[in-house]
Amino acid sequence: MNKSSISIVILAAGKGSRMKSPKAKVLHTLCGKEMLYYIIKTSRLISDDVTVVVAHQKEAVMEQMKRYFDDVNFVEQDAQNFPGTGGAMKNISVKNEKVLVLNGDMPLVTPKSLEGFLENESEIVMSIFDLQNPDGYGRVIIQNGHVVKIVEQKDASAAELNVSTVNAGIYAFSKKVLDKYIPLLDNNNAQKEYYLTDVISMARADALNITPLLVDEEHFKGVNSKKDLSDAEIIMQERIKTSLMDSGVIMQLPSTIYVEEGVVFEGECIVENGCRITGNSRIINSHIKAHSVVEDSIVKNSDVGPIAHLRPASNIEDTHIGNFVEVKKSTLRGVKAGHLSYIGDAKVDEGTNIGAGVITCNYDGIKKYETLIGKNVFVGSDSQLVAPLIIEDDVMIAAGTTVTSGTIKKGSLAISRTKIRTIEDFFYKFFKK
Ligand code: UD1
Ligand code: MG
Repeated sequence: MNKSSISIVILAAGKGSRMKSPKAKVLHTLCGKEMLYYIIKTSRLISDDVTVVVAHQKEAVMEQMKRYFDDVNFVEQDAQNFPGTGGAMKNISVKNEKVLVLNGDMPLVTPKSLEGFLENESEIVMSIFDLQNPDGYGRVIIQNGHVVKIVEQKDASAAELNVSTVNAGIYAFSKKVLDKYIPLLDNNNAQKEYYLTDVISMARADALNITPLLVDEEHFKGVNSKKDLSDAEIIMQERIKTSLMDSGVIMQLPSTIYVEEGVVFEGECIVENGCRITGNSRIINSHIKAHSVVEDSIVKNSDVGPIAHLRPASNIEDTHIGNFVEVKKSTLRGVKAGHLSYIGDAKVDEGTNIGAGVITCNYDGIKKYETLIGKNVFVGSDSQLVAPLIIEDDVMIAAGTTVTSGTIKKGSLAISRTKIRTIEDFFYKFFKK
């Protein structure tokens, strides 16, 4: 099937009240991206005519999706007068004779899982699955081997509620079918909504051919609640990590690792248990040790952790970051920062050693300031570097120093210490021993 022979309509206008959230359902994220992002991405792989129907929080939905896709059509549903999945189909115009209708709350659909819909020549192909717990789904009523109707849970009789064959919510229609039946939908039902699912019973009454296609829940699960969202996220995580391991990443206890959609690995990388790697992070030939968090950062030829935190916009190259080190919006090249440091808004150059407990004091309560550290600098343990600050090459900062002046010149030592005083036998006098 080629990309220009099928049109896709994604229904994304609903409120999603079962999410119990002020945020529109399709904007809830799994593995770092909105559920609508995934279904648009899949759709774009198989079609170049993709329409997304919006209404509830339409500005937010469109703005967010336009950050990823510039070639998707948005159509507004008149949700006031025509609520429901059928109402959503009212103002659609599509280019092709075959129209795939997808729900925006199905992030797990893949191009491969849609092949059956594209290959089938029936005027209506609909997705069904058999569930032990069909709760929430529309029940598919089949008589003498023919699909006769779909009954929504809220409209179903006791006998219909016992039906375990449900509507997965994906359909391939011929354009003719949509043109004919969408205008005929009514809202005589429990929810007073225009149901797209009613097209099935009307088409059946006209003896049209309706092909039910058995699909699996792993790809066609609808997300309606926050529990559904976390179930879907587990499946998506599996896919992301399996694909990364297939492409050569080593993961220890992968079930404890969280890697977001969009993270890129190159070369030989090891990720130990308990790590969280998010955003558009890029990990190149590096070792991320246990329980570290890497957010939107680049790590190249380096080792990080255990228990280190790289916050967004950190750029780490040829560097050793040890335990309990936090880095934010900083560039470190050829650096060693082995223990217990905060390095924020800084640039640190080759050969520099950051001792244990060193803090860049980058914030004065109003503004953030930069710290620039040159080559071969030795920053002694427990030093505070009060920004804005420039430390030139070949500088030594003595342990415990609070560096406050603007520039420390090349080759110098900076030391700020009070002289130590010792009082002999004080301990014995104090404790009267
Ligand atoms: C729908 C089906 C149900 C099926 C289930 C599968 C209908 C009437 N019911 O139910 O048979 O088992 O999907 O997951 O179609 N939407 C709009 N405009 C609206 C209402 C919804 O665009 O006015 C969008 C939503 O954003 C969502 C999708 O349509 O992406 C499905 O809506 P939802 O409310 O989740 O329908 P279900 O009750 O799950
Ligand atoms: Mg749903």
